[in-house]
Amino acid sequence: MLRNKILVAMILLLSCSMAFAQEKKTTENEKMEKFVNDLIQKMTLEEKIGQMSLFTSGWTITGPVMSKDYRNYIRKGKAGGIFNAYTVDYVKDLQKIAVEETRLHIPLIFGYDVIHGHRTIFPVPLAQASSWDLDAIEKSERIAATEATAEGLNWVFAPMVDIARDPRWGRVMEGAGEDTWLGSQIAAARVKGFQGDDLSAANTVMACVKHFAAYGAPQAGRDYNTVDMSERSLYEWYLPPYKAAVDAGAGSVMSSFNEIAGVPSTSNRWLLTDLLRGNWGFDGFVVSDYTSVNELIKHGVAADSASAGQLAVNAGLDMDMEGSIYADYMKGLVESGKVSVETINESVKRILEAKYKLGLFDDPYRYCNKEREKTEIMTPEDHAFARKFASESIVLLKNSGQTLPVSKKINTIAVIGPLADSKENMLGGWSGAGEWKKCVTLLEGIKSKTEGKIRVLYAKGCDIDSKSTKGFGEAVKAARQADFVVLALGESSDMTGEASSRTDISIPGNQMELARQIFSAGKPTAVVLFNGRPLTIEELDHSAPAILEAWYGGTEAGNAIADILFGEVNPSAKITMTFPRSVGQVPIFYNSKNTGRPFDASKPEDKFKSRYIDSPNTPLYPFGYGLSYTTFKYSGIKLDKSTFAKGDKIKASVNITNTGNYDGDEIAQLYVHDVVGEVTRPVKELKGFRKVHIAKGETLTVTFELKDNDLAYYHQDMSYACDPGVFELFIGSDSSTDNKVDFTVLE
Ligand code: BGC
Repeated sequence: MLRNKILVAMILLLSCSMAFAQEKKTTENEKMEKFVNDLIQKMTLEEKIGQMSLFTSGWTITGPVMSKDYRNYIRKGKAGGIFNAYTVDYVKDLQKIAVEETRLHIPLIFGYDVIHGHRTIFPVPLAQASSWDLDAIEKSERIAATEATAEGLNWVFAPMVDIARDPRWGRVMEGAGEDTWLGSQIAAARVKGFQGDDLSAANTVMACVKHFAAYGAPQAGRDYNTVDMSERSLYEWYLPPYKAAVDAGAGSVMSSFNEIAGVPSTSNRWLLTDLLRGNWGFDGFVVSDYTSVNELIKHGVAADSASAGQLAVNAGLDMDMEGSIYADYMKGLVESGKVSVETINESVKRILEAKYKLGLFDDPYRYCNKEREKTEIMTPEDHAFARKFASESIVLLKNSGQTLPVSKKINTIAVIGPLADSKENMLGGWSGAGEWKKCVTLLEGIKSKTEGKIRVLYAKGCDIDSKSTKGFGEAVKAARQADFVVLALGESSDMTGEASSRTDISIPGNQMELARQIFSAGKPTAVVLFNGRPLTIEELDHSAPAILEAWYGGTEAGNAIADILFGEVNPSAKITMTFPRSVGQVPIFYNSKNTGRPFDASKPEDKFKSRYIDSPNTPLYPFGYGLSYTTFKYSGIKLDKSTFAKGDKIKASVNITNTGNYDGDEIAQLYVHDVVGEVTRPVKELKGFRKVHIAKGETLTVTFELKDNDLAYYHQDMSYACDPGVFELFIGSDSSTDNKVDFTVLE
């Protein structure tokens, strides 16, 4: 009785406080609206257009053109924001011009590409995704936001949430990989990390979800290339991560360079207005990508700059990044009636609201705090987290005969390869304000771990991308003298990222020839790979005793790899992009369709099947794959029921036993397959995962819950629903698992 009363009281209290919070939000919104509307009333057309223009400062160049005159633009009220400017002194200096020298004193917003850390650099996003650790991903963005705001920034051009299935595309490095479901969770975690609970706090930044939309699917993997896909694929595979970021409260969105079905995103009214604002309820502002308004001319949808501006603004694009089209042509467009004043007011309102939410009208220098700049950047705690996070992102791809961890009994280790001591290649692309000189290389990491205990030899062997074999002799000699060899191979960090598509995604130069010679020395050898995309490494998979995918680990890369090599950290990461055997298999991804003629590997004589005559269909490493120093055994799957009605849910559990010699973390993955759909369904779709710690010899029961909505998909009429019928449910350690049971969803 008493318990019931307490419960009722608690519910009442909760609903009161929720109502109070809602009321507070409404009052705050009303206050903001009044403030912004009053300000707009006072603004001239030129001042409004100024707010809609964003320019880069001269510090970093992230695109093909740069405005030299940005200080004057600010002074004349022609700039609403500046990007590529940071540090308290510099930002303050520019903000002062806006606040003190313009008529209405409207502060600037300061943006920057904070993609995997600001000063403390974390692993590249594709590597972070391999950790499957949403809390760590969120925390990394929290630290990035703290550091960025300590240097004057309040807006980040992240998260990049483009789903990518083609490793030729260099920007796969910036995203979460090929899976929509996982990508959506990661997108939301990043937004939360950046924005926290209160955008006006001095240590939170406004996120900018990019690149809207489907930028990750350029034809042939060539950056900026055309995107064309069915409406169903767009809705099902490409749009959900942007939606997840918007639902998580992202304050801004960046339009993408590409077209979809013939319409460039930057001028796509359906995309930027009907879908984004109409259906998804997005109430922030949309910025173009770097000069993407200008590029409407090259796309061939605008005859000249004025029409490009007209198309973009009427599509719902609020802010022009660096292109100067709004700055130069918008006034004329309004005066000639091609763009309405209402449209301009709408865009300006969204931009001013963003500034309001960031607290810039209260205090334009809120993010300019010298003390914070001194104390909150690259702290020992940030370093420690960066190291842990990097080790959590490293994937053990092969480990024959337990080559790793390195035996405690060795006397001499040889560290060989062009990436073994390459500070400039530890951070990876888009590393913001990160300083490569402050990175720990693999050689440094190994040396500090083994100091006084193991002799360390070093030989570079060759350059990353050259044909010279001059260093081979010295490298082989070092290998022969050693008891263990660590061979660091891969791409230079500028081989992935923007404008870095490749047709050949093998290890460049003559590094493979170096590897062959090192392997012939016959020593236990671990290859450590540095790269920002899946590479074609079939030969390496045959010949290397062990392979560690280290990606670009950031500031603490070398220490993190050493932690793994010497067994202080047991690897647990799993790849979130399929590794093909050859570039000819690309695009290759786990959630493919069965086709009408699926190939059955047990019947290789069947010619007329969907197959290659010169390669297996299977990838080298499937999505979700990654090894540990220990081994895990999965039991069969138990369901709490074998049929369930719509609106109900089903529970699936497995026992996972750690059957090896080390404690370890396992990422258990749940996939479903709708056996008969109204439209064809993928052979597997990820619908859940659990990252669990299991001590050696122990067994853990892992339970998942599925609702009918988790099984829904877009039907022929594009309605989103779950079909009745039979589903296969898989739980295993990667997407190739055949550990499955069936269940039925009732009518
Ligand atoms: C990239 C964006 C980036 C922008 C600003 C563009 O070239 O596509 O991702 O945010 O530059 O640096």
